[in-house]
Amino acid sequence: MSKNETIDRFFRSFSCIIISGASSGIGRAILSRIGDSGVAAAVFNLSRTAPQGVSNALNFTHLTCDLSQPTDISKVVGELQKLMPRDGRILLINNSGFGAYGEFPAPGLAHTLMMIDVNVRAPVELTGLLWAELKLRGGMVANVASLAGYQPTPLMTTYAATKSFLLNWSIALDAEAKAHGIRCVAICPGPVSTNFSKAAGFAGPTGLGGQTADECVDEALIAMAHHKPHVITGWKNNLVGIFSARLPKPWAAAIGLKMIKRLRLDRFVQK
Ligand SMILES: NC(=O)c1ccc[n+]([C@@H]2O[C@H](COP(=O)([O-])OP(=O)(O)OC[C@H]3O[C@@H](n4cnc5c(N)ncnc54)[C@H](OP(=O)(O)O)[C@@H]3O)[C@@H](O)[C@H]2O)c1
Repeated sequence: MSKNETIDRFFRSFSCIIISGASSGIGRAILSRIGDSGVAAAVFNLSRTAPQGVSNALNFTHLTCDLSQPTDISKVVGELQKLMPRDGRILLINNSGFGAYGEFPAPGLAHTLMMIDVNVRAPVELTGLLWAELKLRGGMVANVASLAGYQPTPLMTTYAATKSFLLNWSIALDAEAKAHGIRCVAICPGPVSTNFSKAAGFAGPTGLGGQTADECVDEALIAMAHHKPHVITGWKNNLVGIFSARLPKPWAAAIGLKMIKRLRLDRFVQK
């Protein structure tokens, strides 16, 4: 079976697909790929702004939600539970997230705490509120973590730690939930060209290069179709992940600090 057929078949195995952060970047690329697969599933996006140019052929609903706000999350899950089809498997993709660069607590403690809310609290809460339904009907929870989650990362301390949480939480949950017909996949991209660097406070491209959102998403979806507990997208990123995960953590942090300083990313930080 070709990669495209595998992905199409994978999406068609769900009656309900819920994604967060499909208004931009990786999430938007996943939404486009869902549209291309000709699914009959009801597809929902949760983010603050609506995705543009969604195919009319898709049974699509955007639900406005600020995932840093627990009240928004419980409200949106209430709406979802009214709108979701009653039967069939559920795919939940926790993709919304953002990063920040600089010495702790830059760019500010409030911003850092909001990052923990969006990157950690929201995926746990969304998954938790939908867990009974997932257990009853079976399905998958995909969590967009990061290559940064494989090691302690200076100058991105909190962001990398949120992604370590998501990575380990997702893999552990997969082991636990398999018995209930739920699989979990942690997707770990390296640098991908999206609005991520702008949201992380950079004025323009940082020259880190990396994958396009479509390349990253193709690899992620194949891993999801094959129920891999975690995947690092991009072969160079794989090498980095394998190497850094094997280093003693303080060494990984010290080497990481040197390497990141050498990139002189402060040049790109928005003043
Ligand atoms: N790009 C990379 O280099 C890279 C690398 C590794 C991992 N990742 C991860 O990939 C995921 C997607 O990032 P991306 O690269 O596609 O960046 P992006 O283009 O900036 O997209 C981020 C998405 O998250 C949503 N989001 C942010 N804050 C939110 C909030 N408070 N409530 C609801 N939704 C919110 C945004 O939607 P609204 O603004 O409309 O709310 C947007 O759709 C993130 O979890 C990120 O950590 C990215």
